[in-house]
Parts: sequence; C-alpha cells; structure tokens
Amino acid sequence: MARFLPCAAVSLLLVVVLLSATPDADAASSSSTGRRYRYGSIFSFGDSYADTGNNPVAFRRLSLFDPVMRPPYGATFFRRPTGRDSDGRLAIDFIAESLGLPLVPPFLARERNGSTFRRGANFAVGGATAIDAAFFHSGDPPGGSTFPLNTSLGVQLQWFESIKPSLCGKGCKDFFRTSLFFVGAFGVNDYLLSLSTNNVSQVRPLVPDVITTISTAIERLIVHGASTLVVPGIIPFGCAPPVLVKFADRDPAGYDPRTGCLKGINELVTRHNTLLQEAVHELQAKHTAGDVKIVYTDFFGPVMEMLTSPAKFGFEDVFTLCCGGPGKYNYNPKIFCGDAAGIMCKDPSTRVFWDGVHLTEAAYRHIAAGWLSSIQSP
Ligand SMILES: *[C@@H]1O[C@H](CO)[C@@H](O)[C@H](O)[C@H]1NC(C)=O
Ligand SMILES: *[C@@H]1O[C@H](CO)[C@@H](O)[C@H](O)[C@H]1NC(C)=O
Ligand SMILES: *[C@@H]1O[C@H](CO)[C@@H](O)[C@H](O)[C@H]1NC(C)=O
Repeated sequence: MARFLPCAAVSLLLVVVLLSATPDADAASSSSTGRRYRYGSIFSFGDSYADTGNNPVAFRRLSLFDPVMRPPYGATFFRRPTGRDSDGRLAIDFIAESLGLPLVPPFLARERNGSTFRRGANFAVGGATAIDAAFFHSGDPPGGSTFPLNTSLGVQLQWFESIKPSLCGKGCKDFFRTSLFFVGAFGVNDYLLSLSTNNVSQVRPLVPDVITTISTAIERLIVHGASTLVVPGIIPFGCAPPVLVKFADRDPAGYDPRTGCLKGINELVTRHNTLLQEAVHELQAKHTAGDVKIVYTDFFGPVMEMLTSPAKFGFEDVFTLCCGGPGKYNYNPKIFCGDAAGIMCKDPSTRVFWDGVHLTEAAYRHIAAGWLSSIQSP
C-alpha cells in the first residue's frame, strides 16, 4: 500500500495548461475555419499525465521513492529518462510540437527566472492533487492519507505567480493573450488517495470539491490574462492495471461486462468529467466578452476506445503494463518498472499502459491528436 500510493500518485501527474490565443485574422490561413490561433507559449498545471520533469525534484526533496529517472523511462523517444512517467512523449509534448513550440520546460528543474520561461513553463508534478495536501493529511475520511506532496493546484498557481514579474512585468495581459494554458488533468490523485481509506460512495462527495478547485483556478488564470485555456478530463482509471488489482471485486457485478473495468470507480470518473464539462460551460458563458476561450478535452473517450478497439490502433494486451514486474497484468506492488527484476515489453507502441496508471507514448499520441482538434476548432 505504501508503495502503491506513491507509484500511483507518480502516475497521476496533473497538468494545467493555459491556452492563450491570438486570433490572427489576416494570416494567409490555410485553415477552413477562418479563425486561426498562434501561440507564443504554453503554461501547464497538472499531475503525472502532464509532468515533463518536475517530479524527480519534488520527490527528492522529500526522500520519496521515484522510479522515473531510471531506464527504461524515456527510452522510446528521448533515449534517456527525463522525469516523464512514460516511455516517451506525453500529450502536452505532442501538442507543443504540433504548435511549433519547444517542449514545455519543467518549472522545478530549471533556474527560476522569467527569461527561462518565455516560451512557457510546466508546473505539473507527478502525484499532484487538485485539493491542497493539508486535506489529505487530516487523517479522517474523506481525506485519510499521509502522502505528503505539497504540489497541489493551488501551490502550482503560487509558483506561476512567483515568476510573473520576471516573465512579463507590466505587460502580462498582452503576453498571456498568446499563451495556451493547460489546467489539468487533476483529480486522479485526489480520488486514489481518498480511495486508500474510503469506499467509492464515501469518495463521491469529494468530486464537487475537486471541480470547484479547478474552476476557481481557471478564474484566477483569466484574471491574470489567460485567454485560451485547455481543461482535460480524467482517464477511466477503473481500467488501469494497478487499480484492477488493488480494488479487485469478488462480485462480478462490480465490473462493466463490456470492458472488464471497475464500474464504481469509472462512475466516479464519469461524474468528475460531467461536472467538469458543466463548470467549463458556465465559465465560458460568464466570460464571453473578453475573447476568452475555455476548451474541455476528452481523456476518457480516447482511452476507452483504445481499450475496446485495440486493433484499430495497433495495440495488443491492452490491460498488461509494458513496464512492470511479475504478476497479473505485469503489475507487482514490490517490483516496479526499472527494477532489476522488472519486466519490459518488446514494443511499447503495442501497449496502452506504461508502468501503472500512466500511458505509453503511443497512447498519448492518439490522445493529443484529439485534444489538438478540440483546441483548434473555432
Ligand atoms: C536567467 O537564466 C538564464 C539561464 O540560466 C541566465 O542566462 C540569465 O542570466 C538569467 N537571468 C537573470 C535575470 O537572472
Ligand atoms: C507548500 O508550498 C507553498 C508554496 O511553495 C508554501 O507557501 C507552503 O508553506 C507549503 N506548505 C507546506 C505545508 O509545506
Ligand atoms: C462504504 O462505507 C460506509 C461506511 O463504512 C458504509 O456505510 C457503506 O455501506 C459502504 N458502501 C459500500 C457501497 O460499500
């Protein structure tokens, strides 16, 4: 359990990216939409799904086990570990590439001055929660975990605010108008931490709190001048191999017969994603005047599609980790990806899950394609 949580948490880096766009009306636009966006930078908040290298710093400060700086992490694309919880690029990396921007530099791993982050900064940290750590330290339901990371969305916002003066001085509103902000995904760590001591029904009331935390952060970023914000939902983590093992249900009714995923946990996910979309619609309605665009991007649908129609994407063994240890689905709570006794699959591009709840580069590539079309739609 102690081992499961940090690993699960690592796999749950949440990133919030703010997308700030400048409609470029007279660009010799090949776009049929007639509206075209050019971004000068990407700012990202989130957890392991978006962390491009902050977690090794955050975990080292607390002397916590963190496997990601060992091979075979990063082997597919970077050919070395980079702090990403994958074999290669994450969705945010594919999106940065597609927009012609540099891969978003991790805030904690760089010298902190504004000039380092003119093209963007990534505040996402593996294991991050939306809700502040103090809640999870409280010990009583529905918190009930001592996992100590102090890297919540609120803390990430403080980091963002701390670089503002050196980044853009008095011209921040203009600067952020051409930035893309990613806010999330957030939530998987909040729920997994709570599920370590509570059942699904007890965790359900936490969902609105997580959503409120995210929408409050979006409002705060808009006040700072963010005008394009991307807000990803969360993956169906009731399908993730470590979750299938740890929360295995003796009652067959606990599983979705179509997917084999855990029903109760995925209902929690669906509730989160539904409330998040409602919150995004409300925020969008409230900010129609200021040329603010807030885009919900789907993390649930594409992962479900990869799991239910694997052949369409060239996937095999969709519930088996590419990198793990001996055990069901290659998940082993004691032998982890990168350990001497660990197991590594031959071809990561045939797997959806990398080392736990985290995904492979191949999976992120498909997810990013969907997100990019949402971002670029008028
Ligand atoms: C910011 O960091 C860069 C890269 O390390 C360095 O070259 C530059 O001098 C620093 N600027 C300030 C104002 O500290
Ligand atoms: C968490 O980090 C924030 C920002 O760095 C800091 O202000 C706060 O004191 C920290 N809280 C704890 C409990 O360490
Ligand atoms: C969850 O736990 C509470 C408190 O122990 C209990 O009353 C409830 O029946 C449980 N619900 C389920 C679905 O197991």
